[in-house]
Amino acid sequence: MTFHADTLTADLTRAEEDFRNRTPKSAEALARASRVLPGGNTRSSLWAAPYPLSITGGAGCRITDVDGNTYTDFLGEFTAGIFGHTCPSLEKAVTAAHRGGFGLSSHTPYEVALAEELAARFPSIDQLRFTNSGTEANVMALTAARLVTGRERVMVFAGGYHGGVLTFGNGNAPVNVPFDFAILPYNDPQAAAQEFAKSGDRIAAVLVEPMQGAGGCNVGTSEFLQALRDLCDESGALLIFDEVQTARMAPGGAQERLGITPDMTTLGKIFGGGLAFGAFGGKKAVMARFDPSHPDAIPHAGTFNNNRLTMAAGLEAIRNHLTPDALAALYERGEAFRAALNDRFAAQGGWFHVTGMGSIMNIHATADDSTLRRDRLRLLHFRMMERGYYFASRGLIALSFAVGEEEMGGFLDALDAVLRERQAERAT
Ligand SMILES: Cc1ncc(COP(=O)(O)O)c(C=O)c1O
Repeated sequence: MTFHADTLTADLTRAEEDFRNRTPKSAEALARASRVLPGGNTRSSLWAAPYPLSITGGAGCRITDVDGNTYTDFLGEFTAGIFGHTCPSLEKAVTAAHRGGFGLSSHTPYEVALAEELAARFPSIDQLRFTNSGTEANVMALTAARLVTGRERVMVFAGGYHGGVLTFGNGNAPVNVPFDFAILPYNDPQAAAQEFAKSGDRIAAVLVEPMQGAGGCNVGTSEFLQALRDLCDESGALLIFDEVQTARMAPGGAQERLGITPDMTTLGKIFGGGLAFGAFGGKKAVMARFDPSHPDAIPHAGTFNNNRLTMAAGLEAIRNHLTPDALAALYERGEAFRAALNDRFAAQGGWFHVTGMGSIMNIHATADDSTLRRDRLRLLHFRMMERGYYFASRGLIALSFAVGEEEMGGFLDALDAVLRERQAERAT
């Protein structure tokens, strides 16, 4: 067996067979689910051939599938699961909010406290509004920008992902909201400048991730992001940083590390303390348009926008877990882990490399041919799962606070073994 092109197909077939043999109950779970959920799935990004694992529970950084196999989780719920899978203090906060009464049909003190914490951290945020997802936060931020500027066009970037209806991995997806999008290459300041020269007076907003997460952990250069800041300043368009993933890079998100302040910021994932969450915020001049006491206010509704359980969990998370020290330590741990992964890959055949920022990273197979790249990554994924290490089939790794030195060392050893096995077999 080898990652070499000649034997890859056979090796992959065997790895898939081994996977099926280890996980028959996950196959059964999918068959049952398929009767009531299309393809057995209610979240397309979780799909991976031949079938995704059915996970029955977790604790700390471990998860267990329905067949009883246990994995160390290096995926961390696609970056939302920064707290690990059990957390006594979050449990306590949610339980207290639950016991105190939920669904209270009005404002509650929790949402004010969480909004104050977020506004204090992000220089771009004077005021904010809560939503139930990052997707909703981005849709609302773009809607605000379009209404405030009186312009229609939105600049986004190829490979960008801002939610299920704002996805640009393959051009403008048919499920996307019907806005007038200009889709430009990422990290190309000249292309952005050209688009502004052509249609700048029609551009309401530039929506950009400081690092494209779903796009393979493609890190934005400060030159590119600063150019967007300057172009927006010149034209009156609003610069929106989607920090749904990158907010964990520092207390004030990636924008703090970059020293670039956008006009608006969208947030999600970690600030819900494990529950569904989103938020969009910005300068008072923009956000004040949502003040419902004004006759021309922009309406923004949502039954669960301020639900007490999420607000309580988010507050506990930001006060006691997402502390400046904890975020700095996690960032450094991620940087060191990515470097170690790249060292191992380089030393063992150079079949793969890793990109990313801090604790979020993506393994890429290195090959010119896209099928070869896909198959190499699938093979690595199967063989690492076999050794008890879980990450996304597309190569995404997001470290949680629960993943420590021991787990990272174990991952590196398992990787070495998988790569060595392949090389040894190639040599025979
Ligand atoms: C950068 C980015 N923006 C927005 C979203 C959408 O967030 P949600 O899944 O909460 O709708 C995601 C989700 O992965 C994301 O990575």
